[in-house]
Amino acid sequence: MTETKTKPVPTLPDAQTVTEVEHYTDRLFRFRCTRSQSLRFRSGEFVMIGLMDEARGKPLLRAYSIASPSWDEELEFYSIKVPDGPLTSRLQHIKVGDQIILRPKPVGTLVLDALLPGKRIWFFATGTGIAPFASLMRDPDTYERYEQVIMMHCCRDAAELEYGRKLVEDLENDPLIGEMVDGKLVYYPTTTRDDFPHKGRITDNLTSGKVFRDLGLDTDKLDPATDRGMVCGSLAFNLDIKDIMEGWGLREGANSEPAEYVVEKAFVD
Ligand code: A2P
Repeated sequence: MTETKTKPVPTLPDAQTVTEVEHYTDRLFRFRCTRSQSLRFRSGEFVMIGLMDEARGKPLLRAYSIASPSWDEELEFYSIKVPDGPLTSRLQHIKVGDQIILRPKPVGTLVLDALLPGKRIWFFATGTGIAPFASLMRDPDTYERYEQVIMMHCCRDAAELEYGRKLVEDLENDPLIGEMVDGKLVYYPTTTRDDFPHKGRITDNLTSGKVFRDLGLDTDKLDPATDRGMVCGSLAFNLDIKDIMEGWGLREGANSEPAEYVVEKAFVD
């Protein structure tokens, strides 16, 4: 009797396989990949993902918010492409069937548990900062906890809003979640550098009162008793929003000590 041995196929540690890639602009793309059954996460959390750096013989990893909801069988990520960025200059070329490295340890402060109960929740995002909200907007828990969910997303131009626009549209038409979202989710996209129905930075639209007027809300600020905020954008944006929140009496929360708003820095390569 002859014994046959099959040579094992080498796989990377914590490897996942890319299942879908979609490019929006020369700066933005999203991709989906397989999810190991053991990976549990709370919507809004991030993980370390990346590619093998062959030259250095070790993985090159960066923090990425998981953009898919926790009930999804796969994982989704939304990324910027930086021409000379160590990771994104390579990641932007991934194709279906490629492997990426994903460390299965989700963490982060942009979770509903880090907030005290409230009536209305505001999601504030610039650029790829919408990624954690792509997860939270698709999570039924968000609509069970809040009467109203307002998604403010600001980008340079309309093409950069496309990922979020399509996501909200799909959500509203979804046979399962659509009914839950109906009348509760308010989407308020703005641009700063081209013509668009709503214009202006989120910070300006909050402090000038424009967003409250546009949405027909009978207030000119967030109320710490009932409003909650979640913030994800560039460092400068996060600092400016924090100032506004604190000025209105909202306090920053954490997993260990829930309060009225939470902040996370969007991934920048
Ligand atoms: P602006 O065009 O006025 O700089 P980016 O693509 O550079 O990350 O920016 C995404 C969006 O965030 C842009 O519309 C940009 O507006 C806006 N933005 C950048 N910094 C701030 C900030 N400190 N406060 C509010 N909005 C900001």
